[in-house]
Amino acid sequence: MKIKKLAFVTSAAVILIGTVCAAALSWHPIHWKSVVGLESVSNEKIWQSFSWRAQLCLQKAKGGVPELSWTELWELMRPESGVHWIEGRSVEGSLVYSSTASAGDRAAGACTFRKRCTGCHGNDGSGGLHGPSLNRSGYKHGDSDLAIYKVLRDGVPGTAMPSAALPPRELMQVVAHVRTLQVNSSKDLKAGGSRLALRVSSERLQAAGTNPDEWLTYSGSYNGWRHSSLTEITPANVAQLRIRWIKQFDTNDPVIEGTPLVTGGAIFMAAPAPHVVALDAKTGGVIWEYERSIPADLPLCCGRNNRGLAVHGSTVFLGSLDGYLVALNANDGKVIWQTLVASPSDGYSITGAPLVVDHSVVVGVAGGEFGIRGFLAAYDVSTGQRQWKFQTIPGPGEAGHETWESDA
Ligand code: HEC
Repeated sequence: MKIKKLAFVTSAAVILIGTVCAAALSWHPIHWKSVVGLESVSNEKIWQSFSWRAQLCLQKAKGGVPELSWTELWELMRPESGVHWIEGRSVEGSLVYSSTASAGDRAAGACTFRKRCTGCHGNDGSGGLHGPSLNRSGYKHGDSDLAIYKVLRDGVPGTAMPSAALPPRELMQVVAHVRTLQVNSSKDLKAGGSRLALRVSSERLQAAGTNPDEWLTYSGSYNGWRHSSLTEITPANVAQLRIRWIKQFDTNDPVIEGTPLVTGGAIFMAAPAPHVVALDAKTGGVIWEYERSIPADLPLCCGRNNRGLAVHGSTVFLGSLDGYLVALNANDGKVIWQTLVASPSDGYSITGAPLVVDHSVVVGVAGGEFGIRGFLAAYDVSTGQRQWKFQTIPGPGEAGHETWESDA
């Protein structure tokens, strides 16, 4: 009986703490919006963010979230902290700061860095006698905002790296500056795209799947196995995987269904449609972005989805929701050509990933829910001229047409 009572009191206390936390944080959404400059964000999104904070508080009350103390959690959850909390499984993945930090916060971080860190890490973070360089990715203790925050907060015992002994918000500002050092000095690719010089030949596409450093088609290779031959990650060490970087897309769509392509040190993604992005694989920095404005009234059964892209030469191909096949320059994201595959006014859209075979880019259509007649079509990779079209349902006079009675 006593145990039951204790369990009841504990759960009640936990729920109370969670509720108080949520209530305190959500005391005035309008205040919140104006503080973080989110006037354009929907109330629903703001509410989701509150409810996730409340869940974190509950987890903490139940003994979880060991990474942060109650005081830190409280400080970093306040709107003024500039920290965004996105719903996720780990606190590390959920805490987003450096990618959205304001110019003021970054400047404050840079100032602290000059006063407290340059003695060991060098003026521009390039390293010195007493500390390693910081203008690189692949930190020993992790590259996520939370990982760097913890190094600054606790220092690295047994080394010269001291605890910074600063309040959470100031620590975060320094984290933002450290991340800027990492991104700005990436030797591989810089924002602006000028460093990408992609050329994916038909032969390389044929051999796709044999080079584990690349993922060149939606399924990884023409055999469609969707299997990587990488062997470094095993069941025994998979638990040691750590977050290097996170890129959050500014979207109201809840899911990303696309498979990214990886080549030449870059990741090409069809982010929530109609949006294509090339990212530096090492840092997550955006190399270029292509955003397509599409009509609001498209015939879509199941959301604004896109499964991925195709690549050939220095062109990336996108099947767009508004029925177009779009060829983008893989090096800068500019449109090379676009051609209408099928019209949304007839119920068509494109959500699938195109596939390049030799000099043809093959694409299929969506719209079964709207009674369309499905087909595959191929286009010349260089010009966008249609080469052939194959109707998947036979027309009158064609073999098998008689099996489709009336409007079956
Ligand atoms: C007295 C010298 C010293 C000072 C001051 C110092 N650091 Fe360090 N720092 C080090 C050393 C040494 C290491 C390497 C620790 C190790 O071996 O894990 C390090 C490691 C780091 C790392 C982790 C790098 C990695 O690869 O994981 C970061 C991030 C960092 N320092 C940031 C800072 C910042 C920001 C400041 C200022 C607030 C600062 N340090 C001040 C000496 C210093």
